[in-house]
Amino acid sequence: MKKTLNVAMIGGGFMGKAHSNAWLQVNHFFDAPFKVKLKAIVGSKTPQEDFAANWGYELVSYDWREVVARDDIDIVDIGTPPWLHMDIAIAAAKAGKHVVCEKPLALNYAQCLKMAKAAEEAGIVSYLNHNYRRVPAVAFAKQLVDEGRLGRIYHWRGAYLQDWIMDPDFPLTWHLKAETAGGGVLYDLGSHAVDLSRFIIGEPESVIAMGRTFITHRPLPGETSATFSKGEVDSHAKREPVTVDDAFFMALEYENGVLGSIDVSRFASGRRNHNDFEIYGDKGALKFNFERMNELEFMDFTQPADEQGFRRILVTEGSHPYLKAWWPSGHPIGYEHSFTNAFYDFLSAIDTGEPLRPDFEDGAKIIRCLEAAKKSSEEGRKVRIEEITG
Ligand SMILES: NC(=O)c1ccc[n+]([C@@H]2O[C@H](COP(=O)([O-])OP(=O)(O)OC[C@H]3O[C@@H](n4cnc5c(N)ncnc54)[C@H](O)[C@@H]3O)[C@@H](O)[C@H]2O)c1
Repeated sequence: MKKTLNVAMIGGGFMGKAHSNAWLQVNHFFDAPFKVKLKAIVGSKTPQEDFAANWGYELVSYDWREVVARDDIDIVDIGTPPWLHMDIAIAAAKAGKHVVCEKPLALNYAQCLKMAKAAEEAGIVSYLNHNYRRVPAVAFAKQLVDEGRLGRIYHWRGAYLQDWIMDPDFPLTWHLKAETAGGGVLYDLGSHAVDLSRFIIGEPESVIAMGRTFITHRPLPGETSATFSKGEVDSHAKREPVTVDDAFFMALEYENGVLGSIDVSRFASGRRNHNDFEIYGDKGALKFNFERMNELEFMDFTQPADEQGFRRILVTEGSHPYLKAWWPSGHPIGYEHSFTNAFYDFLSAIDTGEPLRPDFEDGAKIIRCLEAAKKSSEEGRKVRIEEITG
């Protein structure tokens, strides 16, 4: 009989849903070492009773401190805006709970270091949810690179592009304020993009970057008229400053000599969730784009020149990472599967004690790199990541 671990989900928004779904699915599809129970959902002011009923949470709370301290909670899962991550994660670690935390890990490098220290001292499993690592096509890309199929890597070209805040009347939500989000798209999508490059090719060493805020003032939530059509600006709405970036372009040098670029934007019209990378080596190249997440393009540079070209691999075979647990060959999976794959690995790490990546230490390294990019943009020079000391 497997032991049951009780989960407290903090935050019932977009990630609250994605995580609840994954916790419910993990035991159906994987032979995980533990059963999971959705024990508590913690929200802020918005009523969480419907959310609890929909996903089957046993209890509802509006006080994360009280829930984190409960003896009957084993896993604390943080799906709140970043300004709350540090306090919740440290309290949970001190209470001996294993912790899942959404990205970006925290508001700055100093906070991340405190979180990593608390996790290490408590001996708990910490997992930072850069779920794109656990998209099978991405895990397969890493496998090919590790097997040497690309040979010596020269370039990483990453781009993570969206367009959901391009309307100047999009309100000043927590995503657009430094005190609640830490950074703008640099932190939001840049954290994923830097994580993918670290996962597949290695550690960045220095960065030269340029950031921009295109819409500097936005209406407060509830201030703008819903009747305004796209592109038309509500001149009566009360506006306040946006304190984060809208777009960031980075050129990176990696410790192993790879030269990379990563550009992130929430102002790339038509790009809904374009999380894309290309890797070029002396034996081959790879291309991935999340909008076609079941596919990986591979070019074998060892073939005769007149036969070379990118070919599309449909990453749905049982032999591909994670896919034995899902559907028969040729049946694609979706966004939500990456979360379930991640939670299977998380439960396995609790059982085996094997390291799970990315953890809070990885989160600190990612934010350190993003802080270096910010410094580079502000000071107009190349910044070595070790210059960021927290
Ligand atoms: N892994 C991914 O791909 C991905 C995607 C989107 C968001 N995120 C991250 O997930 C986190 C949450 O983002 P989201 O899109 O779910 O935001 P959201 O605004 O949809 O939801 C945030 C939730 O937190 C709750 N909350 C706020 N203060 C709280 C408090 N004091 N106690 C308890 N709950 C509180 C809110 O009520 C809300 O339900 C962020 O860190 C974000 O960067 C990750």
